[in-house]
Amino acid sequence: MTGPTALPAELLAAVTRIVGGGGAVETRLPELARLLTEHFGADGCIVYGIDSAADELYVSAAHPPPGDDTATLRLPLGFGVTGRVAADGIPVVLVDDEPRNAVHRALLGLADGQPVSRVCVPALSPDDRTWAVVAIHWRTRRDFSQAEVAQAQSLARLVGLRLQRDAALREASEHRSAWEGLVAVTVSAQEAERRRVAADLHDGVTQAIASLAFHLSAAEVALTESEPEFALEQVQAAQQLADLAFTEARTAIAGLRSPVLDDLGLAAGLESLARSVPQLVVRVEAADLDLPEHVATALYRIAQESIQNAVKHSGAAAVFVRLDRVDGAEPAVLLVVGDDGRGFDLSQRSYTPGDGPPEPRYGLVGMHERIQLLGGRLTVESSVGSGTTVRAVVPLPVED
Ligand SMILES: Nc1ncnc2c1ncn2[C@@H]1O[C@H](COP(=O)(O)OP(=O)(O)OP(=O)(O)O)[C@@H](O)[C@H]1O
Ligand SMILES: [Mg+2]
Repeated sequence: MTGPTALPAELLAAVTRIVGGGGAVETRLPELARLLTEHFGADGCIVYGIDSAADELYVSAAHPPPGDDTATLRLPLGFGVTGRVAADGIPVVLVDDEPRNAVHRALLGLADGQPVSRVCVPALSPDDRTWAVVAIHWRTRRDFSQAEVAQAQSLARLVGLRLQRDAALREASEHRSAWEGLVAVTVSAQEAERRRVAADLHDGVTQAIASLAFHLSAAEVALTESEPEFALEQVQAAQQLADLAFTEARTAIAGLRSPVLDDLGLAAGLESLARSVPQLVVRVEAADLDLPEHVATALYRIAQESIQNAVKHSGAAAVFVRLDRVDGAEPAVLLVVGDDGRGFDLSQRSYTPGDGPPEPRYGLVGMHERIQLLGGRLTVESSVGSGTTVRAVVPLPVED
């Protein structure tokens, strides 16, 4: 009863024109419903789409066109005749049906107690996945030949093929936008890093070198004017500034690369970060994990910025840092940095006129960008008076 059958050439051409056209096929399904109604001499035809997320069928197209009240009909997948066709992918023929759902009855144009005969066929793709259900109905009692059912099914297969193609195109275009988004995030992460290096160099190294040059000039003048004591003072000041510039340059470079991280791994890197802020008690509980290098670096930077934020803004007495693996269907690594400081109102972080010129802030934005690049999730929980907790979760490759 379900085998393929030869379709009249004219009908095949008309259906191919409808399902083969450009753009989303959904907009042309009402035309298909009308064509099938006329071809089978039926009272109407409904194409039910499948909403897999909600496990429901919805009215994708109908002939005659549905009214506002009936177009919103939703049927549970797997229940009722149409729902079963969608779930099982097997055609169903009903010779004398009386659907109970009042909206469904209205959609079929049934008066009270009026029976309906229906052919419901799945719109299958070549891999036998059901993409929609095509249901042709007669508001009378009617028998169907095997050829009619096979014909309806062959036509529905053309719809299934097209819907599968549209879904594949949509998926490809979603991947493309995700990829473009990733490129944009990468570029802005690089920009943020550049700005940070520029700021470090500007505030530290170049300031020190400018003063150093000033003192050396003063020393030069003092030497030509035979004021050796003043010249000595200037040279000593210049010496100190040279030391400072050297330290600042090293700090800017260390901001780009962490030798501890490179040599000892993330857990040791976090311990070393904790020791670098003697003004706070930083408790670290870090599991020794074998992480991809780029994941370790990102988490290290997030911990570094979170601790710096706690030092700069929170007035906290203590900070805790936790690093652990999260096992489950999707293995991940979790980093938590929390402080017991004053917290802040997340909604108030943006600049408001009257605050003075906004200062560039890279910290929280940079953290989000880093995590986004790794396909992870970063959450910041904070409220005034109750401390701040930063949580970063990064998915790990599944081990075979
Ligand atoms: N742990 C924290 N406790 C209290 N306030 C915080 C904390 N972390 C962030 N904030 C608030 O959020 C703001 C934004 O933080 P962000 O790290 O983005 O910028 P910043 O630290 O001010 O500057 P930058 O990180 O660029 O040097 C901070 O200015 C501060 O008001
Ligand atoms: Mg910061």
